[in-house]
Amino acid sequence: MADPFYITTAISYPNGRPHIGHAYEAIAADAIARFHRLSGREVRFQTGTDEHGLKMDQTARAQGRPTRELADEMSGYFKDMCDALNISYDRFIRTTEPAHHAASQAIWRAMEANGDLYLGRYEGWYSVRDEAYYDEKELVAGEAGEKLSPQGTPVEWTVEESWFFRLSKYQDKLLALYDNPDFLRPESRRNEIVNFVRGGLSDLSISRTSFDWGVKVPGSEDHVMYVWLDALTCYISGLGYPDTGGDYARFWPADLQLVGKDIVRFHAVYWPAFLMSAGLAPPSQVFGHGFLLHRGEKMSKSLGNVVDPIALADTFGVDSLRYFLLREVSFGQDGSYSAEAIVTRVNADLANSFGNLAQRILSFIAKNCDGIVPSAGKADPADAALAATVAEATRAEMPRLFADLALSQGIEAWLKAVFACNQYVDTQAPWALRKTDPDRMTAVLATLYQAIGDLAVAILPVIPQSAARLLDTMGIPEADRTFAALDDAGRHARLVASGFKLAPPSPIFPRLDMPAEA
Ligand code: MSP
Repeated sequence: MADPFYITTAISYPNGRPHIGHAYEAIAADAIARFHRLSGREVRFQTGTDEHGLKMDQTARAQGRPTRELADEMSGYFKDMCDALNISYDRFIRTTEPAHHAASQAIWRAMEANGDLYLGRYEGWYSVRDEAYYDEKELVAGEAGEKLSPQGTPVEWTVEESWFFRLSKYQDKLLALYDNPDFLRPESRRNEIVNFVRGGLSDLSISRTSFDWGVKVPGSEDHVMYVWLDALTCYISGLGYPDTGGDYARFWPADLQLVGKDIVRFHAVYWPAFLMSAGLAPPSQVFGHGFLLHRGEKMSKSLGNVVDPIALADTFGVDSLRYFLLREVSFGQDGSYSAEAIVTRVNADLANSFGNLAQRILSFIAKNCDGIVPSAGKADPADAALAATVAEATRAEMPRLFADLALSQGIEAWLKAVFACNQYVDTQAPWALRKTDPDRMTAVLATLYQAIGDLAVAILPVIPQSAARLLDTMGIPEADRTFAALDDAGRHARLVASGFKLAPPSPIFPRLDMPAEA
């Protein structure tokens, strides 16, 4: 297969269980990965857990258990979440894997060999929650006048011996990288980062000595690497680095690194600088998506609005949740969710529009046409017009918008084609034609059969399970479930010739009810 496409999510801190924000990132990345697979590209999709650092160590200590034990248990929940949500990752990486340690030490040595590391003493602010160092000038005052990070998290004054990375040396090279508007998207995040880098970069502390939960610094065994240095390295250790052949040669630089807006600095400043220092290529694109809020509010343990994504998927269905998140949130911006919003959206778009279309047409064919796949019949210009609308949406608009990461707009284009089909059903009224003009009825049903099949293929990245179930019901073979197949004019004739018979279908998207406790 040609044209490799490497997509990554951030790797989550497993200091607690996954929440809907983690699920959102995984679902978005999955839809993009599936879209590119459907477009014929060879996709590599990586996600995983970021298990070192002070935050993990402190959480384990507070629970009186070994850090590794906490990491093992919690990492398992993240993997379970991905599996429950149908996330089609090729690699789930854990930073505690020995090969990842070796890779982190290799990038360290490469940076050192380039003369970019020196031993010093760090005196400054650190946020354990963000696992980040901040300059004094970046801090903001909290309600009681206490110092907080720009993310609003507590900071502590930290003094310790540390290795430093000459980040300051990379200012111009980074600014040159941002000249390419595709490197960092959306535009608003690029502007933020350009301003930050133009403001001057301090060298970065990249090792710690006050705790030992991390990757050992080569040659300085009493130091562990700064957790972000090891964490970012996962994107290449997962490809087999320091072996620069094999998967690394095939997939690096990454085509798309998807991260939340809170960690854009690490991915768009530190990460490319580390890579350049080690003589490696920076990723092609970093995309900083927005935050998911609950009824417009930040999720937090104290507000009691942290929702388990698996519970949400159990209540509403995995594909309903996926559809809602991708359709409702304009990708790149913050978005809000609530049980009512999920029920309303899913009922309107999936149950009443697409689901109802498929259900009425397919059950009609099963019942009144012996399940024989309709073809030919007496044509009318309205048929070609509908086919053209569906083709434009599924073969042109959706692929273009998805390729540009305009996921919500892509789904909207798809939904407009669904509406057009429903309108066509209403005006053509195949039920009435059964008695008055069966030949015309056949043409209408054949037009709709193909339209429904094409719409199901195009929406596979968003609702993979339900769309596949619909395609199974319709007898559309795996090989015809690609964007290329949508352009293959012979596929419907092949299905008809195969003698496939449609069995009475069951609804793909039953209407959701508001859960009692929501
Ligand atoms: N471990 C770091 C990332 C290291 S990548 C080399 C980290 N972990 S995290 O668990 O805090 O966050 C993981 C991802 O989830 C990040 O991209 C973060 O932005 C995203 N989200 C966390 N909360 C979120 C929402 N409420 N909404 C959307 N995404 C959110 O950061």
